[in-house]
Amino acid sequence: MITLDVNGAAREVDADPDTLLLYVLRDQLGLNGAKFGCGLGQCGACTVLVDGRAVFSCVTPVSVLPGRKIRTVEGLGTAENPGPVQRAFIEEQAAQCGYCIAGMIVRAQALLERDPSPSEAEIRRHMAPNLCRCGTHMRILRAVKKVAKA
Ligand code: FES
Ligand code: FES
Repeated sequence: MITLDVNGAAREVDADPDTLLLYVLRDQLGLNGAKFGCGLGQCGACTVLVDGRAVFSCVTPVSVLPGRKIRTVEGLGTAENPGPVQRAFIEEQAAQCGYCIAGMIVRAQALLERDPSPSEAEIRRHMAPNLCRCGTHMRILRAVKKVAKA
């Protein structure tokens, strides 16, 4: 058994140490916000926060995570009470198919916690590892800028 700190709660999981975090989140903990896109650390659909940094959960084994704080998009707000980044994504209608959006929100959250007022250039640089195949990048950028301004 491995104990993980997920969204502020200690969660016991029965997983081989090499098991990748994305599968534990989705298959054992019922947290389906993070998505499987490429499985290779190249698209960002699976992004979660680990100690405040955006991490690709599809290439992160659970063995490196005990004692570290994991947060997923579910930990940033609820449907009834979305967090500021989630709210901005809704207001800007940043999702088309929505597949990339949990990862985008989580990556933006990492930036805004580190720097509440990033420049547009910094937002673009920070968000670059996460891809959106629907091409809603400009709406995503607007949503992140909205939170940064607020
Ligand atoms: S699914 Fe993890 S980076 Fe693509
Ligand atoms: S909204 Fe479809 S992949 Fe981004």
